[in-house]
Amino acid sequence: MRRILVKGGKKLQGEVSVSGSKNAALPILAATILTHGKSTITRIPDLLDIRTMIRVLRSLGIRAEYAFPNTVHTWVNGGLKHIAPYELVTKMRASFFIIGPLLAKTGHARIPLPGGCAIGSRPVDIHLKGLQALGAKIFMEHGFVIGEAKKLTGSRIYLDFPSVGATETIMMAATLAHGETVIENAAREPEIVDLAAFLNKIGAKITGAGSEEIKIQGVSSLGCCEYDIIPDRIEAGTLLIAAAATRGDVLIKDVNSLHLEAAISKLREAGVMLGIRGTSIKVNVPNGIKPVDIKTLPYPGYPTDLQPQISALLSLSSGTSVITETVFENRFMHAHEMRRMGANIKLEGQSAIITGVNKLEGAPVKSRDLRAGAALIIAGLAAEGETLIEDIDQFIIRGYEGLDNKLRNLGAQIKELKNISEYGYDEDIS
Ligand code: EPZ
Repeated sequence: MRRILVKGGKKLQGEVSVSGSKNAALPILAATILTHGKSTITRIPDLLDIRTMIRVLRSLGIRAEYAFPNTVHTWVNGGLKHIAPYELVTKMRASFFIIGPLLAKTGHARIPLPGGCAIGSRPVDIHLKGLQALGAKIFMEHGFVIGEAKKLTGSRIYLDFPSVGATETIMMAATLAHGETVIENAAREPEIVDLAAFLNKIGAKITGAGSEEIKIQGVSSLGCCEYDIIPDRIEAGTLLIAAAATRGDVLIKDVNSLHLEAAISKLREAGVMLGIRGTSIKVNVPNGIKPVDIKTLPYPGYPTDLQPQISALLSLSSGTSVITETVFENRFMHAHEMRRMGANIKLEGQSAIITGVNKLEGAPVKSRDLRAGAALIIAGLAAEGETLIEDIDQFIIRGYEGLDNKLRNLGAQIKELKNISEYGYDEDIS
């Protein structure tokens, strides 16, 4: 279990580049199940979740190799297996993305039903309803989702919620279905657009990705391609907020600012100066942070994946902010930990009322969610004193490529602790 000690009070300064998008790479790697031949995908972040997806692909009989730096090659020919190993799929929810392509390609799928996680129950009912609408027979057996479909048939599908994963599952499955599929109330995230671009590059016929109505004309087979993933908008937003929280002066490079319009607008409202030039954004905070009210929404609204991070920033604002989380049911766990650092946060239903304080104090904290972990690092960077953050590999490094080193290169004082006695605690007694 890796743990870090963050010493606060230092302004972040310098330049940092954003990696490729984790949430674009994972569905695109799952979509290689639909390919035939060798594909090369670049700007893939080197993360535990990516390595897990590569192992899932290999378990299906796909040759998948990670090549330094940030490239994955896949070779897909016939004879795919359709059973994903339980211990791999339960390590990472995103493995469930394979059900759509697997059903479309082989007509069968046997995938463990993903459990919930810290931020919510995260059912997959919308995914399954979509696959059934395409003619798949879906049933549960001993905790596994079993899918059978001789040939999928295009259909008009309305999503009860613009689920990112369900939109991706249905879009991938529909590429090889017979006839046209229309997804209504589709998710509009940039990662959906990136997946559609990859699928069209291997021969799919998808229009409307990025809008609430996506059309897919089924084709009989798909090929292979070389493809470059979009930058990670959530990592970019996390770095912007970390720079602002330390009143730093940072240039964030390789960003697509069009993917961050809601976050940029809210940060400017909070008094953060953001100078956008091409694929770079310059951040500084001339006069302190002002309170702002935020409601997380599906894209293009303010992203739920940047809600914990901006909560950390606003805990040091000059007034009271109200943050309402509408996407996940339990995404304020960071608030309990930040209170231990002196933050003034009251939770009421799906809202957090954050009254800015003059300072946060370093403390030992824990995160149970990737983005909450990033928020605690941000709070630690802005706090006085030292903040101990446990389990960073499980909850931070798995989803942010080298975040600790990127912050160190900007001057952050982040030390890896070999054991907890370095923090003055007795060695683990567990
Ligand atoms: C994707 O998760 C992202 N993960 C999440 O990022 C992100 O927070 C989320 O989209 C929302 O933007 C990946 O892309 C790998 P959803 P996903 O389906 O697809 C409910 C991170 O930190 N829902 O849009 O699982 C669900 O419970 C992660 O990188 C159903 O009810 O999100 C949730 O309340 C966290 N039934 C809401 O919809 C379903 O069948 C949004 O979920 C599917 C979803």
